[in-house]
Amino acid sequence: MCLSACEHPRTHQGPAQRGLSPAFKRCCVGSEQKISEEPAALLYSSHCGGTSGIEAREPWRRPPVTLTSFITAARGAEDLLAVEIEALTGVRPRVVAGGASFDAPLGALYRVCAGSRIAERVLLTLGTFEAPDEDALYAGVRAIAWEQHLAPGKTLAIRATTSRSRLQPSHFIALKSKDAVVDTLRDARQRRPDIDPREPDVQLHVRIFRDRATVSLELASRPRPRRTRGSDQYPMSGGLASAILIHMGWPALAAQGAAFVDPLCGDGRLVIEAASIALQRRPERASLGLLSWSGHDADLWEEALAALGPQRPAQATILGSDPSGDQVEEARAAARHAGVADGVRLVRRDLADVSAPPGVGEGLVVTNPPYGQRLNEGGALGPLYAELGDRLKRGFPGWTAGVMTGNALLSKRVGLKASERVELSNGRVDCRLLVYPLREQAPAADEGPGWRKPSPDAGMLINRLRKNRTRIGKWARRGGVTCYRLYDADIPEYNMAIDWYDGAALIQEYQRPPRVDPQVAEIHLSDALQVVPEVLEIDPEQVFLRVRRRGGGAAGQYTRRGDGDGEQRQVQEGGLSFLINLVDYLDTGLFLDQRQIRAQLRELAGGRRFLNLYAYTCTATVYAAAGGASHTTSVDLSQTYLDWGGRNMALNGFDIDGRRHELIRADCGEWLRAHADRRYGLIYAAPPTFSRSRRADTFDVQRDHVQLIRAASRLLERDGVMIFSNPFQDFVMDHDALTGLDVTEITAAHLPRDFARTPKIFNAWRVTRSA
Ligand SMILES: C[S@@+](CC[C@H](N)C(=O)[O-])C[C@H]1O[C@@H](n2cnc3c(N)ncnc32)[C@H](O)[C@@H]1O
Repeated sequence: MCLSACEHPRTHQGPAQRGLSPAFKRCCVGSEQKISEEPAALLYSSHCGGTSGIEAREPWRRPPVTLTSFITAARGAEDLLAVEIEALTGVRPRVVAGGASFDAPLGALYRVCAGSRIAERVLLTLGTFEAPDEDALYAGVRAIAWEQHLAPGKTLAIRATTSRSRLQPSHFIALKSKDAVVDTLRDARQRRPDIDPREPDVQLHVRIFRDRATVSLELASRPRPRRTRGSDQYPMSGGLASAILIHMGWPALAAQGAAFVDPLCGDGRLVIEAASIALQRRPERASLGLLSWSGHDADLWEEALAALGPQRPAQATILGSDPSGDQVEEARAAARHAGVADGVRLVRRDLADVSAPPGVGEGLVVTNPPYGQRLNEGGALGPLYAELGDRLKRGFPGWTAGVMTGNALLSKRVGLKASERVELSNGRVDCRLLVYPLREQAPAADEGPGWRKPSPDAGMLINRLRKNRTRIGKWARRGGVTCYRLYDADIPEYNMAIDWYDGAALIQEYQRPPRVDPQVAEIHLSDALQVVPEVLEIDPEQVFLRVRRRGGGAAGQYTRRGDGDGEQRQVQEGGLSFLINLVDYLDTGLFLDQRQIRAQLRELAGGRRFLNLYAYTCTATVYAAAGGASHTTSVDLSQTYLDWGGRNMALNGFDIDGRRHELIRADCGEWLRAHADRRYGLIYAAPPTFSRSRRADTFDVQRDHVQLIRAASRLLERDGVMIFSNPFQDFVMDHDALTGLDVTEITAAHLPRDFARTPKIFNAWRVTRSA
């Protein structure tokens, strides 16, 4: 029996750091039978890779011929797919990114269609040709003998993808290809075929890569996952879930009567696939286009189904639970649909209450928790991952755990040592399957989570945080400052900044120098995550984590990564209110280091017209308005930030109807050129170091500051003042090029006390017209 050949996950030493390992040969299918004698029911006289060589249908007389196909799978699961295909057919396919290229007779292809659990789609190649433009595409698709594939009365649909090619976009390619198919069939039959984009009998695919088109017919496909509204979970396809289970040795364990648990089962996909494998059921198919294909051979198909062997009676205990009752209902419906409802138990249960079923020695506990998919990690998900780690350790001694996640920051919170990290994609999300062998001995009920203890170094961090909290906290309270930098890499081992945002803490790890041992850095980051809530006396859900990466600035810096403004919270500064967001963006909406500059603007603003360039969330505008500015203009390239700025203004009682306060979406350089006739008594220009956008020229503060200061100063009233500030550490002011202006550095006088350790965090200048 093939299952005995499967290695146990904990003994497996395979090179599985990238992609699933092929070490489970033959454990993934029910039969080892090789195809020795191919039935001759085939369509083509030769390889069908091109548009020539296609002959009229005389299937029963032909010798066996080879068909070309492409079988898709989740990225990272390709090797395992290849092993599965070889086990099903005796033919080893060629592994390529995203699947396997398979040249084999129709019978072998049918066995893949019937038996592969990992394959997402089985695509029969009908033609490949150069398609540099639409005419070539049309001619290439027309050259395929469609009447040999599509019977009258069958509906069809075409999906297209394109990359690194001149032909764009994909829906145009689909449309053009559809025209070619329809025209060919209409010429042959004097009747147009029917198109059904939702549920076609035959789904065609056109893929263009580097100007070369591949046209294929989908013989079979797995059900696609659907995201449940309101759920944080990124559901998995059946193919991906199976790949994970097979990699973790589930087929062998199931045959031995082991148990399977998913404690955050969501839509139940892992549980359903675990049951399907345990029962040796045929893998679920969303569509079987082969049944509508003119070349279909019913006898061969029956043979392929028969080769899978009978279903096995249930032996394994398979449990899925989820804290959400709605999710459990959904999982139950999906299990019924998949025909495995009798083989699984699905219950509503909090994570804290899940443990191994009694009397079962070993098993697998595998789950796909929500990834958050946000730029920064925070909110409820950090504690959820920590709780998951604790539950695995306490509730499943001796088992093997698998956690699939698309969020590297969250995975750190599990707090267990992974024996494997397998790169896998869930749709477009790059994920990792983390495999944890769990110790035989669970910690005692009253024993603290020893595995989650801070390292001995953490004492230094605790002491420093306590000291800073007393010292800076006192200063902040006196000045009415509720958001401030509490810690700034004071201890070199803890290379991070910790900012206090009125009840929440944001931990930002600085770029790790190459000489720092990554493991030590991980331990120290984990220390911080544990000690910060304790020392600051806040709920762990109020701790947010961010890792700044080199090169992550500039282009990506001002892009929203999360999915909404639901995370906006209100904080106070200088008696004013501001909205911040600790989750979705690289910056929070309030630059704490610019606090004193803003206070200065408030002092200078009385009775003056105020211009805020690179206004961001208009915090400086709020200060100027509060200081009595007669009029304010805020210019920024981003509508998102201007909207945010508008909310900040409204929050403080300033009407943004455009009369007294105007928000303008524009490139500052262009706007200054177009409005040289305007006059302002106070200008604040605080650009980023570097900015690149489709809507504006590239801006580089070192290269372009003279031009910017000159252009802005032209709008200054005679006695007007401009404050220019930027965050470029190595900035050098080109005084010589700024004749006619008095430019004085004011950085030191405006560096807030909580940023004393990083005096280069910004540089600021007062600019006036020379007398
Ligand atoms: C570093 S922040 C500015 C900080 C802001 N002055 C403050 O003190 O809060 C960068 C802002 O510049 C904006 N920006 C970048 N390039 C721009 C351009 N060429 N024209 C207008 N705004 C731009 C971005 O949209 C973003 O809101």
